[in-house]
Amino acid sequence: MPDIAWINGVITSLDDARVSFLDRGFLFGDGVYDVLKMCNGRTFAVKEHLDRLDRSMEAIRIRPSWSRLELEEIIRDLAAKSELLDARIYIQVTRGAGPRKHEFSSGMTPTLAIFIVLQQPFPEEIRKAGVRAITVADERWAHPQIKSLNLLPNVLARQQAEESGAYEAILIRDGELVTECSSSNVFAVLNDTIVTPPTDGRILPGITRDLLLKAAREANYPVKEDYLALTELQSAAEIFVTNTGVEVLGVVELDGKPVGSGMPGRITGDLYRLFVSRWLNA
Ligand code: PDD
Repeated sequence: MPDIAWINGVITSLDDARVSFLDRGFLFGDGVYDVLKMCNGRTFAVKEHLDRLDRSMEAIRIRPSWSRLELEEIIRDLAAKSELLDARIYIQVTRGAGPRKHEFSSGMTPTLAIFIVLQQPFPEEIRKAGVRAITVADERWAHPQIKSLNLLPNVLARQQAEESGAYEAILIRDGELVTECSSSNVFAVLNDTIVTPPTDGRILPGITRDLLLKAAREANYPVKEDYLALTELQSAAEIFVTNTGVEVLGVVELDGKPVGSGMPGRITGDLYRLFVSRWLNA
């Protein structure tokens, strides 16, 4: 059964999946999530994603009523039942259902909702051509390192990108500091050095970002985790974004101006191939 959901132990099709109207995820956005993928029938970076989910839950004081082993087993079973080879697996955790009041009691049972949807690999022709990006003010709350369900600023930024013919919105804090994107991390190549903002609590620590940094360092690329000014981004030789879906994707136009040669750069292409060989096909 493709497009399958598991909600508090009940397996259904995605269409029939239901959570309570009183769920605090619905009423308050009181929850967190994570997203991982399946490639060729194999789940990818499960430990890294579940570690991040644990950190997100802990940060908002949700205590899971399941163990890591149980969660891994649910994911494995559901993935097998879906019979999908290339898919996205979403794990949504909320504080649970209860009377609508802002404060919560420590005894609440969290909602655990997992769903799997078909996701073909990112189209090769778009990867080859690269994508457009726009810059948008980073208007998110002060803790974007928590993968919370409160995605309104990300949703609006991405919509703005879409409506201006761009693929991604790069978020700019206080008018000058590059943080990340609506749903990806951002990298620039400046003077042959690969630069990406640090995980100092102002960005989501992307799993792809981290694995790519590891592979790049192993392969002796000059890499710096450092603040990136908007003016530096505007003068970068290459820009690329990373996330679970796109892996490493070149940005060829920023706010209507070409980046570098206007084609995905050499380092971007090399890093994409490095990521695939070091992690995906390993
Ligand atoms: N988002 N930054 C933000 C704000 C994100 O939402 C994501 C991922 C990333 C990249 O993280 P990773 O490499 O672990 O996928 C960075 C997922 C894809 C989503 O919300 O659908």
